Amino acid sequence: MKFFVDTADVKEIRELNDLGLLDGVTTNPSLILKSGRDIVEVTKEICSIVEGPVSAEVTATEYSEMMKEAAALSRIADNICIKLPLTLDGLKACKALTSDGHHTNVTLCFSANQALLAAKAGATFVSPFIGRLDDIAFDGMDLIREIRQIFDNYGYETEILAASIRTVNHVKEAALIGADVVTAPPATLKALVKHPLTDKGLEMFLADWAKTGQKIG
Ligand code: E4P
Repeated sequence: MKFFVDTADVKEIRELNDLGLLDGVTTNPSLILKSGRDIVEVTKEICSIVEGPVSAEVTATEYSEMMKEAAALSRIADNICIKLPLTLDGLKACKALTSDGHHTNVTLCFSANQALLAAKAGATFVSPFIGRLDDIAFDGMDLIREIRQIFDNYGYETEILAASIRTVNHVKEAALIGADVVTAPPATLKALVKHPLTDKGLEMFLADWAKTGQKIG
């Protein structure tokens, strides 16, 4: 499973990338707002930190404007992945961009039929939003399950990018179902390592080690 971080905070991205566990980054207009930085400047910096795909989202809603924005975004770096909304114009742009060799991420996916359309449009990634479905009393994981089955039925190569991740259990469940990628906030990715028995066990080992009076190396 690939791990993407869902943020435009370069400090957090650098820290996770240094751990060697990061496969890519996803951003969106809200995350750019949160960063307080210029989209081109911050995206360029992110692309220089991470080798994998960095999703940068168009904000136009009409096809030809989307294509202009996609051209501008793709000039930022070679690892830019153009993020497009799941609308008819977004799908048309996705088809054109993927045919032209660009990587694409079709976002704001809330149904299996929408994901099917993204796959037919040749999307590199489709982003089903788990947390936002949970928020309105649907089960976001059911959507991941349905998309997995549909893509496997037809051999679609579009990768399922589980997004809007809110908990470590979301990560585990998405992995069990077979999502290809998970994108999560930095705190959620870091929380994956936590287990009280690991902390307790380490504490005991270190205490016993100190009693031996030994030193390694
Ligand atoms: C994905 O690419 C989105 O940026 C993100 O996962 C949305 O998450 P949210 O619902 O927590 O805003």
